[in-house]
Amino acid sequence: MTKSIVVLGTQWGDEGKGKIVDLLSKDVDAVVRFQGGHNAGHTLVIDGKKTVLHLIPSGILNEGAQCLIGNGLVVSLEALKKETESLEAWGVDVRSRLMISPACPIIMPYHEKLDHAREKAKGAKAIGTTGRGIGPAYEDKVSRRGIRMSDLNNHELLAEKLEESMDYHNFVLEKYFNMPGLAYDRVLDDALQLGACFADLVGDVSGELHRLRTEGKRILYEGAQGTLLDIDHGTYPFVTSSNTTIGAVCTGAGVGPDAIDYVLGITKAYTTRVGSGPFPTELFDDIGAGLAERGAEFGATTGRPRRCGWLDAVALRRAAHTNGVSGFCVTKMDVLDEVETIKVGVAYRLGDEVLDVPPQNPEAWDDLEVEYESFPGWQQSTRGITRFEDLPANAKSYLATIEALCGAPVHIVSTGPDRKESIIIQHPSD
Ligand code: GDP
Ligand code: IMO
Ligand code: MG
Repeated sequence: MTKSIVVLGTQWGDEGKGKIVDLLSKDVDAVVRFQGGHNAGHTLVIDGKKTVLHLIPSGILNEGAQCLIGNGLVVSLEALKKETESLEAWGVDVRSRLMISPACPIIMPYHEKLDHAREKAKGAKAIGTTGRGIGPAYEDKVSRRGIRMSDLNNHELLAEKLEESMDYHNFVLEKYFNMPGLAYDRVLDDALQLGACFADLVGDVSGELHRLRTEGKRILYEGAQGTLLDIDHGTYPFVTSSNTTIGAVCTGAGVGPDAIDYVLGITKAYTTRVGSGPFPTELFDDIGAGLAERGAEFGATTGRPRRCGWLDAVALRRAAHTNGVSGFCVTKMDVLDEVETIKVGVAYRLGDEVLDVPPQNPEAWDDLEVEYESFPGWQQSTRGITRFEDLPANAKSYLATIEALCGAPVHIVSTGPDRKESIIIQHPSD
């Protein structure tokens, strides 16, 4: 049987998922997003040309791959339109290859407004969201108040649902946050107009995946964010509002567990985080600044600087368990090229207790101390290396250390942002 692969972030997002999905998508028939929204920023570099995708699956630059947006995503039609148009301007035929589930909740303008209002009200305790309205849109889904993709081509139904939804949200904006609400007519008109642009792309994603699978086609499921941003398993409340871990593939695409043959966990060779919240191995010194500079660590969605630190094997170990990682892909090896001594967090200390997996209680994250092991750097360029045997000996042992500490083999290594700057040790489909 041909293999279906899941690509997931195992840290706090931005691990390089987009690059790896693009790399692997030449060998698959369909690429599927199953959670999150345009809070994601997935960067693809092909022969020096950079594309950042937020909603459209990272298979879109491989003509042979169909691209599917599953029911688990919250969709901003404005963002989708912008992204579609910019890809079309580059000559990519998006519309003939994209399908969107009718069950996707829509991110409405009031969701974005609420996201900003809440963050502002939280002051120093703000989550540091991307401000895309993700949280409020998922809340509406769960409260059964949401507007879905399928509502947009039914004027009467949409008008009725929107009225109920906006009554509530305008009340919150005006009375709780003391800011102007939004005009119902304008929101309705915009939604109808944008909905019409994508009406012909709405289709039964779950059914399509079943059909593809039955025909023996290869499917790649593209995660957004990362394990530590998962609403249940992450550093709550400093998380996103969806499940970013393996279970979301089934619920967010409409497939059974037998649809998953291989789980590729993506990790940087170090760690980054954008937004607030605990980060035990964070560096505040010149080494951290050096990683940020060499790694060009600025958010692909918001442009915010990313916080940088050493690899956290404790958190990665948990991510491997939580997701059933079959193999790791270690990205940005080249960013460590000049580091003399590389440290890895191997255990946490909480009072007298030594922990080899993160604590369950999120508050405890603030009080952790990290135990590190040190490894000699390789201090030579790995940039663009494509064969494992060409890696310096110390780089190979660093990868072996990750395998030993985190409990899964390293199957792919990335040595630069470009699609071709990759080492495939074992292809997930083999
Ligand atoms: P994603 O959200 O997981 O897809 O990751 P992002 O695209 O947000 O961030 C990863 C960044 O690292 C992007 O700018 C990529 O172009 C870049 N990148 C990916 N792999 C490598 C690598 O191996 N080396 C270097 N130097 N950059 C990389
Ligand atoms: P990709 O797919 C990194 C973070 C935000 C914030 C928290 C909540 O590119 O890896 P949200 O807007 O989702 O309510 O913000 O989650 N966040 C990400 N961080 N990469 C992402 O996506 C992220 N998507 C959300 O910075 O801390
Ligand atoms: Mg990103």
